[in-house]
Amino acid sequence: MEKKNPEDSFQVKIDAEEKIEPKDWMPDEYRRNLIRQISQHAHSEVIGMQPEGNWITRAPSLRAKAVLLAKIQDEGGHGLYLYSACETLGISRDELIEQLHSGKAKYSSIFNYPTLTWADIGAVGWLVDGAAIVNQVSLQRTSYGPYSRAMIRICKEESFHQRQGYEIMANMAKGTLEQKQMAQDALNRWWWPSLMMFGPHDTESAHSAKSMKWKIKRESNDELRQRFIDKTVQQAEVIGLSIPDPDLQWNEQRKHYDFGKINWEEFTNVLNGNGPCNKQRMANHIQAHQNGAWVREAAMAYAEKQKNKKVPA
Ligand code: 3HC
Repeated sequence: MEKKNPEDSFQVKIDAEEKIEPKDWMPDEYRRNLIRQISQHAHSEVIGMQPEGNWITRAPSLRAKAVLLAKIQDEGGHGLYLYSACETLGISRDELIEQLHSGKAKYSSIFNYPTLTWADIGAVGWLVDGAAIVNQVSLQRTSYGPYSRAMIRICKEESFHQRQGYEIMANMAKGTLEQKQMAQDALNRWWWPSLMMFGPHDTESAHSAKSMKWKIKRESNDELRQRFIDKTVQQAEVIGLSIPDPDLQWNEQRKHYDFGKINWEEFTNVLNGNGPCNKQRMANHIQAHQNGAWVREAAMAYAEKQKNKKVPA
């Protein structure tokens, strides 16, 4: 009987909606693509703690501080789930961190923008976590088991993140004139970079074709971007803020909002390291990693000692 080509059997599993597990055979390119995407997702979660961490000491109330602390702590945990999922593909945490520090691995462009006012913390929760939720809900159905399970766990916490951001924006929008202007200014600055989180247009996407074939990605960059826009425009209307896009208008035929051109030059610029905060984000991460070396060494020494401990007969 003719031996089946492993790629064909793999594709049969994918098409049958079976999850691929760490010990299963998988094409090298599937593995590489997943390491690329999951690692960048994990890096994004951890780097994303910086813009918000910037406001912990300046939160306007104890409640606001407690909510922000809880959210940032969640993001660290999301990074942990995702690094762990990535390690099941045969790459070590040290290699992942080295790829981040060397610039070989990316993290989401959105985190290279500064959080200038408290309203930015609202815009980040509402728009950045809002965009992340649209993307991550779809990724719950990704074909790689550990990634899918990490997404299911993460999505449970993301909706709290989006709600706390939207609450900040809603309160400021119905506050004093100055507060409303602060909220509108934050929306103006975070709207277009949030649309860039979904990646280039499908026609320009280097990975989408393969990622869709292997069901790493279940919906395209543009489909997810459109879903985010349709949902968020209505949320802005409810709180009386205006989306900074003169071309935005409801298209009855498409049953979606038409929107203006995204500034892909800005996107590429930020990806090339020339965003407002790229250097600062990386310097902070490298510094924190170095400062934390003693904690990792102590934990490893303790684990080694426990492993060598003679278990009483
Ligand atoms: N920022 C940085 N790089 C981006 C990007 C962005 N916003 N959008 C695309 N890119 C990169 C891709 O990584 C790829 O570069 P690479 O080959 O060096 O990896 C290149 O641009 C081409 O883009 P593609 O569309 O071909 O790449 P993908 O198929 O990987 O799609 C993606 C891009 C939709 C971001 C996909 O990688 C993805 O879904 N990633 C997982 C989700 C994620 O990372 N979200 C980021 C934010 S996490 C977050 O917000 C946490 C929340 O709690 C705050």
